Amino acid sequence: MNKHAIAVIPGDGIGQEVVPEALKVLETAAQIHGGIAFEWTTFPWGCEYYLQHETMMPSDGIETLKSFEQIFLGAVGMPGLVPDHISLGGLLLKIRQELEQSINVRPAKLLCGMKSPLADPQSFDILVVRENSEGEYSDVGGRVHNGPDEMALQTSVFTRKACARVMEYALSVAQRRRRHVTSATKSNGLAHSMPFWDDVFRDVSQAYPDIQTTSMHIDALAALFVMKPHVLDVVVASNLFGDILSDIGGAIMGSIGIAPAANLNVERKYPSMFEPVHGSAPDIAGKGIANPIGQIWTAKMMLDFLGYEDIASVVLYGIEETLVENVKTADLGGSATMTEVTERVIAHMKAAAK
Ligand code: NAD
Ligand code: IPM
Ligand code: MN
Repeated sequence: MNKHAIAVIPGDGIGQEVVPEALKVLETAAQIHGGIAFEWTTFPWGCEYYLQHETMMPSDGIETLKSFEQIFLGAVGMPGLVPDHISLGGLLLKIRQELEQSINVRPAKLLCGMKSPLADPQSFDILVVRENSEGEYSDVGGRVHNGPDEMALQTSVFTRKACARVMEYALSVAQRRRRHVTSATKSNGLAHSMPFWDDVFRDVSQAYPDIQTTSMHIDALAALFVMKPHVLDVVVASNLFGDILSDIGGAIMGSIGIAPAANLNVERKYPSMFEPVHGSAPDIAGKGIANPIGQIWTAKMMLDFLGYEDIASVVLYGIEETLVENVKTADLGGSATMTEVTERVIAHMKAAAK
C-alpha cells in the first residue's frame, strides 16, 4: 500500500464545497486502484481564519506544509470580508512562491459532452504553462507621494532562471504532445521584460530542434484562443499573461468551473499544490450548485503527478461520461446540483472498474 500524506486547504466560498466532492472522487480512485491510501489533514486557513487571527495562516504554516507530500486547495478570497491583496498574498501566492511552485500547468481542452460557447469549434487541446513565481506578480513597488502627484509603482521581475525553467518545461512537455510551443510576448509594448523573455525563449529553444516554436503578442494570442484554438498546442506565458489565457481557456471549454490546474515544484523539493483555475465564486457560494468538475479534474492532475496515470484516466472518463449524459450544473446550462454531478462521476468510475 502506498501512503500519501496530503494537506487539504478548502479555503473560502465554493472551495469549501467542491473540495469534499473531489476528495470523495480521490477516495473512489484509491479504492479502485487498491494500492493507494490517502491521509488527509485539513487546514481551516482562509478569510474566516483571518478575521479571527489577523493572519491567513499561522506563522509556521509554510513549514507545516513542507511535511506533506502534496497540497490540495479549493479557492481563496472573500472580497467582501478581506481585501484580495491581503487574502491572496497571505495564503495562495505565499504558498506558490515560498514552496517554489514555479510552474502552473493549466489544460484547456474540449471534453466529450461539452458544448463550447464558440460557434463552431474544432476539437482543441491546449496546455497553458504559466510562470508562477515572479514576473508581473513580484512584490516590488509601492505607493509614492500624496496629493495630485500620487502614484503607484508595480515592478515586474523576470529572471533568466525562472523564465528558462518554465520554457524548458513547456518545450519538454511538447515533446510528448504535438511538438509545438507558442510563447506569449508583448515585446512591442513592454520595452524591457518581454524582449528579455523572447531572448530567453530563443536561447532555450535551441536545445529542442524537434519542437516548432512561435512567439505571438498576447493580444493576438488571446484572439487566437477564441478564433482558432485548435491550432494551439503548448502555450508558455508569464505569470499575468498565463493567468488571463487560462481563464479564456476555461471559457472556451464551456465554463471556468471545469478548468483544472497544478502548481508544480518540478524538482519535488517541496510539495506541489493542486487547485482549480476558478476562484471562490462568492456569487454562488453556499447554494450547492457549484460545478465540482474543476476541482475533480484537478484531483486527476494530482493522481498523474503522483504517478497513477491509469487511475487518473478513469477519473477523466467519469467526468466525460457524466457530461455526455448531460448531468450538468447551472454554469453549463443544466440543473444538476454539485453533489449529483459528483455522484455520477463516481458511478461511472466504478462501472468502468468492473
Ligand atoms: P471566480 O472564478 O470566483 O468567479 C467568476 C465567475 O465564475 C462567477 O460568476 C462564478 O460564479 C463562476 N464560477 C467560478 N467557479 C465556478 C464553479 N466551480 N461553478 C460554477 N460557476 C463558477 O472569480 P472572481 O469572482 O473574480 O473571484 C472571486 C474571489 O476568488 C476573489 O476573491 C478572487 O481573488 C478569488 N480567486 C481565487 C482564486 C484561487 O484561489 N485560486 C482564483 C481566482 C479568483
Ligand atoms: C488564479 C487566480 C490568482 C492568480 C489570483 C486569485 C491571485 O486568478 O489562480 O488564476 O492570479 O494567480
Ligand atoms: Mn486567475
